[in-house]
Amino acid sequence: MHTPRSSLDRRHFLTGTGLAAAGILVPSRALAATDSRSQPPTPPDAGASGRGPQVGDAHRGPCVIASGNGPNATERAFKVMSAGVDPAEAVVAGVKLVEDDPKDTSVGYGGLPNEDGVVELDASVMHGPTHKAGAVASLRNIKNPAAVALKVLQRTDHVLLVGEGALRFAKAQGFIEENLLTPESHAAWLRWKESMGADDWLNPEERDWPRPGRKTLDEFLADEAKQSRAPGDNAPIPFTWGTIHCSAVNADGDVGACTTTSGLSWKIPGRVGDSPIIGAGMYCENEIGAAGSTGRGESLIVNCGSFTIVQYMAAGLTPTEACLAALKRIVDRTREKRLLNEKGRPNFNASVYALRKDGAYGGACIYPGGSFAVTTSDGATKVHPCTPLFDAQ
Ligand code: GLY
Repeated sequence: MHTPRSSLDRRHFLTGTGLAAAGILVPSRALAATDSRSQPPTPPDAGASGRGPQVGDAHRGPCVIASGNGPNATERAFKVMSAGVDPAEAVVAGVKLVEDDPKDTSVGYGGLPNEDGVVELDASVMHGPTHKAGAVASLRNIKNPAAVALKVLQRTDHVLLVGEGALRFAKAQGFIEENLLTPESHAAWLRWKESMGADDWLNPEERDWPRPGRKTLDEFLADEAKQSRAPGDNAPIPFTWGTIHCSAVNADGDVGACTTTSGLSWKIPGRVGDSPIIGAGMYCENEIGAAGSTGRGESLIVNCGSFTIVQYMAAGLTPTEACLAALKRIVDRTREKRLLNEKGRPNFNASVYALRKDGAYGGACIYPGGSFAVTTSDGATKVHPCTPLFDAQ
């Protein structure tokens, strides 16, 4: 089990308060900062986390942050926001680029489907100034679920629409139904399905097709049309619970946030991850900032991941420290054997992202590998590694 090793641990995990009993451990000096009328908390001294100053600690001013698959999204959202559009709408415009990208198999068009081969999308949006949210879950046939979630926020009294109702709402709002499977994601699903050992689905070894030296009709037709081919039978079967999260703060300090995903690949139809759950995959408070997550959604749901990060920022932690503290809660509360490795640590990764109202930002992951994209007040876009809680699995 991870041993507390930083002043972050000393200051925030040994403090006894009512919140501590509830598992939200904050320093008593910081409780006042949770008053929504208070100013953003002063950041702790650089190095307070024991890891030295983190990228984003000192940044101030307008900023857009996203998961590592989102440099195009942050750039777009920053441009849209700088033209005067609300941050909540700007982040939706940003993530649309990734939802539309067939190469990103974790989001929107081209996202990996459920176990029936059907793409089901989840998304949420939150608007800091009104503290209003909109979300959709298990939405089929609509490429841009974040834009549908924004319509739920803007045009209904509800927060979350699911499945058939979400689709009917999207169509009523003018969204067009389309097939979200690409040749690549369809071929990946077939490989997955055939690998499951069901008697009637033959895997490549069992199929004996094409005969040696022959090409398939599909290969011939692709060559003839000079089209790229779907990956072959023996290509690796991909797996993802990837997602894109994007949060923004404008020059007025108004905050917006959004998370959108195709969720866990090969999931049970109807499975909903953290992305459309307010406080799990995404959360913001205009007086404090915003947070979001990618990775194993179930763990972020049962730990209220994004809500926790925002509360830790309210308590005075820097964005990176807040992310690390929330991940530590997840690690400490991962107790099922099937989810633990031989060191007793989670056998999965998760990455979280935080943006404070004043423009400070940061990202962290349980194990190295996560990254985040950021467009800063000077308009520059960069991708940085997330700060890992542990150096290795
Ligand atoms: N974090 C995405 C999911 O678990 O669905």
